[in-house]
Amino acid sequence: MTGSIAAYKAAILVRLLIRAGAEVRVVMTPTAKAFITPLTLATLSKSPVPVEFFNPENGAWNSHVSLGEWADALLIAPATACTLAKMATGVADNLLTTVYLSAKCPVFVAPAMDLDMYAHPTTQYNLDSLKSYGNYVIEPDEGELASGLQGKGRMAEPEQIVATLTQFFDRQAHLSGKTVLVTAGPTIEPIDPVRFISNYSSGKMGYALAAELQQRGARVILLTGKCALTPPAGVQVLEVLTAEEMYHAACTAFKSCDGAVMCAAVADYTPQQVADAKIKKQEEAWTLTLRRTPDIAAALGEMKGDRLLVGFALETDHEQQNARLKLERKNMDFIVLNSLRDQGAGFGGDTNKVTLLCRNGDQTDFEMKSKREVASDIVDEMERVWHSKPQAAQS
Ligand code: PMT
Repeated sequence: MTGSIAAYKAAILVRLLIRAGAEVRVVMTPTAKAFITPLTLATLSKSPVPVEFFNPENGAWNSHVSLGEWADALLIAPATACTLAKMATGVADNLLTTVYLSAKCPVFVAPAMDLDMYAHPTTQYNLDSLKSYGNYVIEPDEGELASGLQGKGRMAEPEQIVATLTQFFDRQAHLSGKTVLVTAGPTIEPIDPVRFISNYSSGKMGYALAAELQQRGARVILLTGKCALTPPAGVQVLEVLTAEEMYHAACTAFKSCDGAVMCAAVADYTPQQVADAKIKKQEEAWTLTLRRTPDIAAALGEMKGDRLLVGFALETDHEQQNARLKLERKNMDFIVLNSLRDQGAGFGGDTNKVTLLCRNGDQTDFEMKSKREVASDIVDEMERVWHSKPQAAQS
């Protein structure tokens, strides 16, 4: 809890969480104590409420690491603009923000502040950053604020916050028993020991999918090209360099999977020959001969049987037409179209804008969202298709 007038709702929140079956431990920022006492919250949660790093009376240490490890979810409610800014930038100057930085569990924030503070570009930027790190934002409500002004900024009602958490944990069971292969990142096709052909994929979209699938209880095999990202904890990671390596690893892994999401940006061509030594520059123009790489998605499409196959289409023109051709040709269940004509979509950034195209001609267009939210939309569709299919047959 942080220092906001909405802290008065915290007592009810703790009560409701306990009633929903949760074990609750409260951590407060020093300012939060001005709004509600630790005694109230300690009584309701049946646990002492740490505020400082250590108890000045006896030196007892409040370990942010063990608190972060203990929790299945960290909920910051109310979350002030100040704490959101600290979380977004890694400022660990109180117990609560150090717990946040140490926590490996899902993190939810329920912002509470005046409408102008909430609408300020800095706050919105910080919230976007937090979402891009995989945190969940429980949107504030509109209504009368402590200042007397009307607008968006009131912390969501405790019932709403508890419902969001309950829904989150319910969803965790949705994909238990399923094993899903996710390909992510770029492939690298060496030309000689110092040069290569590749593309701009960062792996963010694929890693977000792996995290989302894992969060919903699936066993995830993340088959990744070279990326500068930390894979989500608990997923099985297979690292490869080239399209050829990805092809072999994917064909093997897919056999034990119930489905695959092909998010990697795979090179369609690779040098015919890889030089052993650095190719020396010459005066004349130089021609590099390329050969086709195997189409991994198409290969999985041939062997899929009842498994679910989701592909991506990264387009720059005739988007729908090209995506539909890929959907059919590679025998996918549905394809996720993203276009480089949409600013903020595709490579590198933290956002994407996608359209899902299904075999039966259905199409769903989504707004620009964080890649984690896009992953959630894609996994929703996977669940929907799975529910409409007979049990996946693995062979
Ligand atoms: O990694 P990020 O920076 O977050 O960027 C995300 C992304 C833009 C890479 C991602 O959203 C995306 O669009 N991935 C697919 C990129 C791509 O190669 O698209 P494509 O239209 O060329 O390929 C169509 C499908 O066939 C894809 O599912 C691709 O993985 C697959 N493919 C392509 C070629 C090949 N040899 N084997 C394949 O399996």
